[in-house]
Amino acid sequence: MLLLGIETSCDETAAAVIRDWSVLSNVLHTQSAHAEFGGVVPEIASREHLRLLPGIVREALAAAGVAVEDLDGIVFTRGPGLAGPLLVGAAFARALALESGKPLWGANHLEGHLAAVRLSHPDLRPPFLCLTVSGGHTELTEVGSDGSFLALGATRDDAAGEAFDKCGKILGLGYPAGPALSREAASGDSKAFPFPVGLRLEGLDFSFSGLKTAVSRQVKASGEMGAELRADLCASLQEAIVDALVLKSTRALRERGLPGIAVCGGVSANARLRARMAAAAEGIGAWCRFPEPGLCTDNAAMIAGAALWRMERGATGPLSTGVEPGLGLG
Ligand code: KG4
Ligand code: ZN
Repeated sequence: MLLLGIETSCDETAAAVIRDWSVLSNVLHTQSAHAEFGGVVPEIASREHLRLLPGIVREALAAAGVAVEDLDGIVFTRGPGLAGPLLVGAAFARALALESGKPLWGANHLEGHLAAVRLSHPDLRPPFLCLTVSGGHTELTEVGSDGSFLALGATRDDAAGEAFDKCGKILGLGYPAGPALSREAASGDSKAFPFPVGLRLEGLDFSFSGLKTAVSRQVKASGEMGAELRADLCASLQEAIVDALVLKSTRALRERGLPGIAVCGGVSANARLRARMAAAAEGIGAWCRFPEPGLCTDNAAMIAGAALWRMERGATGPLSTGVEPGLGLG
C-alpha cells in the first residue's frame, strides 16, 4: 500500500508518503505566524495551510521518489481539530483525488497518533492500553484484540500538553512551551516544589487545571526569578504531570490486566515521561512503546498510518470525506 497523508488539523502543514509501515517521506512546516499571539489563530492557520499545501505535498512526493499516479490512496485528517484548517486539507485532498482518480480516505487524528507508535514498532498488536497525551487530549483507551476502542479515562479539564503550555506561558517560555519547559527542567530539582497531582486517589480520570494556579501562586511568591529557580519550577511541575500520567496508566494496566502500553501524542516526546513510564511498566511486567521522536508531534505519516491500520482491519471503502472537528478516538 502506497499512501499519501495530509495533515492540517492545527498549525502544522504536513504531507508524507508511506509504503505499508515504512515512512518514505515526512515533510512538515510548523507555522510561525502564530507566535506573536501566544496560541494558534484558526483563521491564520487556514490561510497558511492554503498557501503552503501544494508545495509541501509536491515535496513529500519528490522526497519519496513517487508520483501521484503511483499512489494507492490519498488520506487527509477529518478530525478532531480546528474546523477551518481541517476543511482546507479536506478540500485539497478531495481535489487531488478527483483529478487523479485515486481513492480518498478521511482519517481520525487520534488514531493517527496511535498509528505513529505502529510506524515506529511495526510488530505492535492489540490488546494494549493507549495513553494519548497531546495539546488537546489526555485519554486512556483500551485497544481490544479486534481493534475496538474502550474509553477508560480522560482529563476533566486541561490536557497534559495544555498544562505544559499554560504553565510555560506563566514562566515566559513562549508557545508551545512543552519542549522548552522540558529542556529547562533537565537542570532543575524535581522535588523543589510539591505541586499537586489532581484526582490522585480517584479512578482513571486526570485533572491538570490546579497546576497552573499553583505555579502562578509560586511565581508570585518567589518574586525575582533567576535561572535556578525557573529550572526548579519547570522540573517540579513536569514531575507532577508525569506523576499523574504514570500513576493512572499503571492503575489502568493493572485493573484491566493489559500486557502493555502505547504512549502517543506530542507530550510522548517528553524525555522524563518516556523514562518514568518505561520503568513503571517494567516494574509491573508490562511492555511500553513510544513513537520515535520525530513522529510524536503532529505529522502526516501518522495520518496515512491511521488509514492503513483501518484497511488492515478490513475497512473497504473511503471512511468519510467530511470533516468532524469534535471527533473522538474510534
Ligand atoms: O500532538 P501534538 O503535536 O498536537 C496536538 O494534537 O495537540 O501535541 C502538541 C503538544 C503541545 O502542548 C506541546 O507543548 C506538547 O505537545 N509537547 C511536549 C513536548 N513536545 C511537545 N510536552 C512536553 N515535553 C515535550 N518534549
Ligand atoms: Zn495531534
